Amino acid sequence: MSTSQASPDKYTQVREDIAKAFPNEDYDDGSFAPVVLRLAWHASGTYDKDHKDGGSDGATMRYKTEAEDPANAGLEHARHFLDPIKAKHSWISYADLWTLAGCVAVEHMGGPHIEWTGGRRDKGNETDCPPLGRLPDGALGKDHVLDVFVSRMGFTVQETVALIGAHTVGRCHADRSGFDGPWTYNPTRFSNQFYKLLLNVTWVEKKWDGPRQFVDEDEGEIMMLPTDMALLEEPFRQYVELYAKDQQKFFDDFSAAFLKLIELGVAKRSKM
Ligand code: HEM
Repeated sequence: MSTSQASPDKYTQVREDIAKAFPNEDYDDGSFAPVVLRLAWHASGTYDKDHKDGGSDGATMRYKTEAEDPANAGLEHARHFLDPIKAKHSWISYADLWTLAGCVAVEHMGGPHIEWTGGRRDKGNETDCPPLGRLPDGALGKDHVLDVFVSRMGFTVQETVALIGAHTVGRCHADRSGFDGPWTYNPTRFSNQFYKLLLNVTWVEKKWDGPRQFVDEDEGEIMMLPTDMALLEEPFRQYVELYAKDQQKFFDDFSAAFLKLIELGVAKRSKM
């Protein structure tokens, strides 16, 4: 990056400032880390391998068109959370900041390190936003998950299962997506609990005046989306079983798949 005069580890202070700010008693389950992870994913998950557009390069969610996509409802909390970090380290691009913050979030919650590299640039126009409607719809099933992750973004089935394991953290908000509740009992800790619960809990349809979702039969405290339940079917299920048994394998595969996600459509550059 040409603007940088700083030392090779210039991101260390940025990482520390992000991590220090995550805990917050007044927000959700006490941390901004899950919603920041979701920002990194939604900034990247618009990539289309055939059209070669979308992806994290550009940080186009700063513009109204993409910011107001209903799929991105609630992500303003993550963007605003990062504003003071951007103000302090003004040399970093939003595109780098958002993806770096997602990686810091994973690590901060006890997950694997991700070999993030910088060099993304911010695009300067509303018209640079990718077409809306590319992010997955939790109300749909297996074919949709395959369409979005395998056909459009170019992930393998195994990488797809690893990525969706991020639902081990965070929660759904009725006023954002319409769905409600956390996936696990410890939504600020990154682990393989999502897969264990998916396999071992008796899931029943939630009886409520809201979109179709599943809750645990006993207390109705934790939840799954229809797309999460689709992972119980092949070709996904074998990997759910693998990751439920082997957390280290999940961490290794998540780390690699998440790196691939945040690199989609990012112009080649020399290592920062
Ligand atoms: C089929 C694919 C996916 C669907 C349909 C989906 C859908 C959703 C929905 C509906 C929510 C709740 C939003 C809200 O109400 O605030 C959510 C939250 C979340 N998703 Fe996903 N997601 C998918 C894949 C992923 C992937 C690949 C990642 C990351 C690698 C991810 C990370 C998260 C996180 C961390 C949250 C919690 C956010 C918070 O606590 O505010 N999701 N997702």
